[in-house]
Amino acid sequence: MNIVVAQSGGPTCVINASMLGVFLKGKESDKIQKVYGSLNGIEGLINDNLVDLTATLSEKDVEIIRQTPATVLGSCRYKLPDSEKDSTVYETIVKNMKAHSISAFFYIGGNDSMDTVMKLSKYFKENNLDICAIGVPKTIDNDLVETDHTPGFGSAAKYVTTTMQEIIRDSSVYSIPAVTIVEIMGRDTGWLTASTSLLRVNGEKAPHLIYLPEREFSVNEFLDDIREIQKETPSVIVAVSEGVEITDEEFSGDDFRSGKVDNFGHKYIAGIGRALEEIITNKIGCKVRSIELNVMQRCSSHLASLQDIKEAEKIGGEAVKLALDGLSGKTLVFKRVSINPYKVEISSADVSKIANQVKYFPPEWINEKGNNITDDAIEYFLPLIQGELDIQRENGLPKHYIIKK
Ligand code: F6P
Repeated sequence: MNIVVAQSGGPTCVINASMLGVFLKGKESDKIQKVYGSLNGIEGLINDNLVDLTATLSEKDVEIIRQTPATVLGSCRYKLPDSEKDSTVYETIVKNMKAHSISAFFYIGGNDSMDTVMKLSKYFKENNLDICAIGVPKTIDNDLVETDHTPGFGSAAKYVTTTMQEIIRDSSVYSIPAVTIVEIMGRDTGWLTASTSLLRVNGEKAPHLIYLPEREFSVNEFLDDIREIQKETPSVIVAVSEGVEITDEEFSGDDFRSGKVDNFGHKYIAGIGRALEEIITNKIGCKVRSIELNVMQRCSSHLASLQDIKEAEKIGGEAVKLALDGLSGKTLVFKRVSINPYKVEISSADVSKIANQVKYFPPEWINEKGNNITDDAIEYFLPLIQGELDIQRENGLPKHYIIKK
């Protein structure tokens, strides 16, 4: 049999490691002849835009792909229609799969991508097709249910906390009152923003305030929180999740956001940091800077977590094993079987349980005032950011792999 792997949704530093996990396990198996890569997620299978990875990737390429950020196969935010309403696209996918003798599809993605795996596996089953669809989890948002954490999150957390630490040093050089707001990604959840609390393990006092979308956000209370911290320290550092919603009537409205949506109907939500910067300038009047970490937090492979890379590659390989065992409509998940020492096991869950669901940051790890994280979360985060990859460089810069189409 031949198999195909695709990457979907927002990139991470280790989504390529999961692709390698599928590729290397597929190459190793005597039951699999070719491993194809579908370009731009499911769109590659619809447009018959495939690359034969078995013929393309050398051992050297594999090393470089492991340290390359983003998706070497490209990505998409494509929502499949319900097959009962419109089966045309499914027929095209099956036709193209059959033309390449492909009988297993691996989709590396988040909760939207699991919707695609769910719909495809259902269609394959209902039409008695001997094709399986397996999901491989990824997202820096860490918001997939059924899994302890998602590949990609640890590396993003390592980047965000390291960068936050550097920002704290830089922002603390003057004695004048100042507020620095760092806006961190997370469409619906605050896992990544909360990870900045990790700096406490090394004795850091900042960020002094951490706000997540899981709790209501009042600008007036936020201004009071800042005034309170300013009594103790001139430089206040704030971590705020891009997804927080302002509740006060006088400040509400989404005017600072573009209002644009993707194919899944999700809003592009960046902008809260800049909006709060303006409010502080008007209401408090001290020096203010807002920093949007933007895509750097999901593509800074020079700071990727080795633990994350290893787990991402392993879970990709396990997906192939599942397909060889004849399973479909499943997603791989991590179970934390031991906290100290940290140990995870990989198992699988029905994709229908994961698709379109959101795992929120635990309420018991948020303090009563909703402006900081409790120490309990640190034990959860810490193992996920451990280790670094020894990066291959050229002229002092990391080497990246770009697919030959
Ligand atoms: O992958 C998750 C995520 O990074 C969110 O945190 C963010 O809101 C979203 O993707 C935006 O990504 P893009 O601009 O690539 O659609």
